[in-house]
Amino acid sequence: MEYQTIKGEKVPSLGLGTYRLTGETCAQAVEQAIGMGYRHIDTAQMYGNEAEVGRGMAASGVGREDLFITTKIWTSDFAHDRVIRTTRESLEKLGTDRVNLLLMHWPPRNSTPLGETLGAMRELQDDGAVRHIGVSNFSTSLVEEAAEHAEIFCNQVEYHPFRDQSGILDQARAMDYLLTAYQPLSRGSVEDDATLREIGEAHGKTAAQVALRWLVQQEKVSAIPKASSEDHLRANLDVFDFELSADEMERISGLSRR
Ligand SMILES: NC(=O)c1ccc[n+]([C@@H]2O[C@H](COP(=O)([O-])OP(=O)(O)OC[C@H]3O[C@@H](n4cnc5c(N)ncnc54)[C@H](OP(=O)(O)O)[C@@H]3O)[C@@H](O)[C@H]2O)c1
Repeated sequence: MEYQTIKGEKVPSLGLGTYRLTGETCAQAVEQAIGMGYRHIDTAQMYGNEAEVGRGMAASGVGREDLFITTKIWTSDFAHDRVIRTTRESLEKLGTDRVNLLLMHWPPRNSTPLGETLGAMRELQDDGAVRHIGVSNFSTSLVEEAAEHAEIFCNQVEYHPFRDQSGILDQARAMDYLLTAYQPLSRGSVEDDATLREIGEAHGKTAAQVALRWLVQQEKVSAIPKASSEDHLRANLDVFDFELSADEMERISGLSRR
């Protein structure tokens, strides 16, 4: 495992995404993933699987202090009291007294001011229920606005070789926050890309592994591929024994400009 250092704290560069993982499949995938060496798990209130993620974590036998857990508040729950209540419910479902990172899942879609939501998240932080506060799907200008109300640890956005995020990336480096790349495999379609396959062949890796390596090799970036099969879980973790050259990194960055 490699780590990104954000505001002096180490975050595992690779995590497990759990969107569309439900029921026993979810609990088993989380347990299996942690058993293989995953230490970073991404869930959300909207995924409806926090209880299963919690069961998988408990069954893994790995101590809570060794895991980095993210959950997210859905847009209908951005009012102060709902932030507090739904996050407490998340903790109960996850079977933990704190999450490492709590995100606003999307920018506000109603009239709740950003300061109200982030203020409630700060209260949870002061209580020790939340270690860090972040956002998801925020533009750079919205991140700037959010930073007036709380210290922003993360912006989770769609990022993979077919999607340029250089504006967010520049800001992540300038403000020292984590850019968590969601849909890092472009939902599996990276496997069909000829350039990624060719680069993979040179390293004895698959196109998906090259896409993940390209992400985690970038400063301040973590990736959270979702996988349900044991083969995919294992393959996605197996990206720390090779390095892409500067030329290969640049070729892959160019895929979003085709
Ligand atoms: N913040 C947000 O708004 C937001 C939005 C979307 C996603 N997310 C987060 O990001 C995570 C990842 O995104 P995602 O699940 O949409 O897409 P993804 O991780 O890009 O792709 C998942 C798909 O790729 C397949 N796959 C996994 N590993 C593979 C491999 N090594 N080779 C080939 N195919 C592979 C999976 O198949 P199997 O399941 O069959 O293994 C699954 O069909 C989500 O689970 C969620 O935690 C956040």
